[in-house]
Amino acid sequence: MIRAVKGTRDILPPASAVWNKVEAAARRVFALYNYAEIRTPIFEETSLFARGVGEETDIVSKEMYTFEDRDGGSLTLRPENTASVLRAYIEHRLDQNPGVQKLYYMGPMFRRERPQKGRYRQFYQIGAEAIGSDSPAVDAEVIEMVVHLLQETGIHDSELLINSVGSKESRVKYNAVLREKLAELAPKLCEDCQRRALTNPLRVLDCKVPEDQPIIETLPSILEYLDDADRSHFRRVREFLDDRGIKYRVKPRLVRGLDYYARTTFEITHGGLGAQNAVLGGGRYDGLAESLGSKVAAPGIGFSIGEDRLVMTVEELQAAAVEPLDIYLAPIGENALRHGAILAGDLRRIGASVEVGTDHKLKRMLELANKLNARYTLILGDNEIVTQTYGLKDMASGGQESLTRQQILERFRTYEAAKS
Ligand code: HAM
Repeated sequence: MIRAVKGTRDILPPASAVWNKVEAAARRVFALYNYAEIRTPIFEETSLFARGVGEETDIVSKEMYTFEDRDGGSLTLRPENTASVLRAYIEHRLDQNPGVQKLYYMGPMFRRERPQKGRYRQFYQIGAEAIGSDSPAVDAEVIEMVVHLLQETGIHDSELLINSVGSKESRVKYNAVLREKLAELAPKLCEDCQRRALTNPLRVLDCKVPEDQPIIETLPSILEYLDDADRSHFRRVREFLDDRGIKYRVKPRLVRGLDYYARTTFEITHGGLGAQNAVLGGGRYDGLAESLGSKVAAPGIGFSIGEDRLVMTVEELQAAAVEPLDIYLAPIGENALRHGAILAGDLRRIGASVEVGTDHKLKRMLELANKLNARYTLILGDNEIVTQTYGLKDMASGGQESLTRQQILERFRTYEAAKS
């Protein structure tokens, strides 16, 4: 038997209905904040991610699905979408459009990580980017939007963590201090941290090994290394959040795993998720556009929600997400099946969902209608075709009425109108 590749999975009904609900809620919220959808390719030139996300990051150094194209070029399945969105922004000169460019996306991303609960090699993100302003008001609005979105999907018990990693210059200073401290402390830390201390010292702050925590706690905080402009930017982001009544915790160790961040970073975690508890992550990336070749400055901020993880937290939506079947149409005999198929088409056109039985045995079809949770069964036999009246059975009450074709269409037109 051929199975799905390790770290990938099929999203089957009824779970797929929850995914659709979450995506529909996201589209509604994005529209409220004036975001429009962008769809970028699933693969890009490898150099986009190497330059955008950073050569030293875990993502680029060991998790990308990179392959040689037939013409010898190097392509990579997108491990994230911010770099692609910025590439599209530059390529299509979106800076020439009026105002801040507000773009959202949803779709699969690929990282060759060790699969576990909430961590896959093909996973899905719902994300948004606001490009063209460095105002802290934009940071606060982006964070407000994602909090709004989580509320709309019914997620509770989440915590918003925020931080500022400062500008590139303050980070260079902080990195130098960390490197110096780690030269002495690294031998007491886990193997990964010993490596990170040399390659990317900021990543040490992200270590999850419990024994390392007391040592990491003694490292200086990045907030002490912010310059005045960064410090004031961060203060204003917090003020805007306070004004909106949005609760958050400042976590100075929140440095995130991608190199493009500058100033604000944030994550939302959820207690029910276990080790992989970040439902989403995001932050500001002033300077990224320039490093990807933009001639004009394009400061921006955005986030990506891990849709797989979000769906896991909204289990209560699961039952409500499945739309029940309106009508199971039960034709008895070939002639009835032909009539039934035409009636089914008319019913669907007025908005009723219809499943047409092909079994011809009434008892078996009624059993199946029950199992499919149909609201009504419509019975069509030779007799009904002669008299032009059909039996409409209410599956909950068991009551049955004889109705003409016209009456049935009228009944479902009213019924569907009441539903919407
Ligand atoms: P990220 O933190 O790498 O950020 O990913 C964002 C979210 O994607 C994570 O919080 C997590 O929920 C989900 N995620 C990441 N890897 C996996 C995986 N292997 N399996 C399941 N879920 C996963 C970014 O990707 C940035 N592009 C976010 C951003 C947008 N920053 C600015 N704009």
